[in-house]
Amino acid sequence: MSALEKKTVTPSGSARAAGPILEARDVSLSFGSVRALQDVSVTVGAGEITALVGDNGAGKSTLVRCFSGVHKPQSGEVLLDGAPVSFGTPEAARGAGIETVHQNLALVEDLTVWQNLFLNRELTRFGMLDRRRMRAEAQKMVSTLAVNVPEVTSRVRRLSGGQRQAVSICRAAGFSSRLVIMDEPTAALGVQETARVEELILRLRDEGHAVLLISHNFDQVMRLSQQVWVMRAGRCVAGRRTDATTGQEIVGLITGAIAA
Ligand SMILES: Nc1ncnc2c1ncn2[C@@H]1O[C@H](COP(=O)(O)OP(=O)(O)OP(=O)(O)O)[C@@H](O)[C@H]1O
Ligand SMILES: [Mg+2]
Repeated sequence: MSALEKKTVTPSGSARAAGPILEARDVSLSFGSVRALQDVSVTVGAGEITALVGDNGAGKSTLVRCFSGVHKPQSGEVLLDGAPVSFGTPEAARGAGIETVHQNLALVEDLTVWQNLFLNRELTRFGMLDRRRMRAEAQKMVSTLAVNVPEVTSRVRRLSGGQRQAVSICRAAGFSSRLVIMDEPTAALGVQETARVEELILRLRDEGHAVLLISHNFDQVMRLSQQVWVMRAGRCVAGRRTDATTGQEIVGLITGAIAA
């Protein structure tokens, strides 16, 4: 095993990290001959925004899928509050308070906002769907997060990209989640919609959720995050406190122009 493979990366910098809520230790996962993750170790601090950056194919989505119960690491461990966990399904991760807004939004176009918010966790009363309560709760969730969504009874197909993203984030933020993972939440959005989603992300943090944010937008990462992990070709090559690095250094670490 090379020196780099064995290297343990810890974030350097002045600000003190809050205790990790979630941790990956030496996580590896291959798809056939593709080594998507190789001995990846990262931490996600409680009460802060952690960014995960890297080029296309670096392994970011694969790593967060190991956190959200989609994939199981072939080796290494995932720890929640310091205790090893193994999520066999996304429901199991959700049950532990980990919600994910995936890269490809999983909203159902023909359903309404409230139906999407309660998809797979419908409320029932006497064995029947409790539509009235779900609509009311959905309205509460949407207004709590000050999301600019027309009506919870609107069908998702009529919403803009930003509104859809807001519904997805709302869904992840509700249901008492402790950690919200967002895989490129603003990639497809315009300037105003991006600003709105960014406000929502900060709001989540201010309300006490930990956030793990995957983004290709360095300005966004520098503005929003407190900690940044850099992935390259399946490895985590560096970790920095955000206030102890620059966008330029992060770009260098991503491309390999700067050695970690
Ligand atoms: N389900 C899968 N089956 C086979 N290969 C996969 C699968 N998922 C990911 N990969 C491969 O694993 C590697 C890492 O992919 P991943 O989606 O994690 O990258 P990423 O960092 O999220 O990239 P992007 O920024 O483009 O979203 C890639 O080489 C990809 O082709
Ligand atoms: Mg991805």
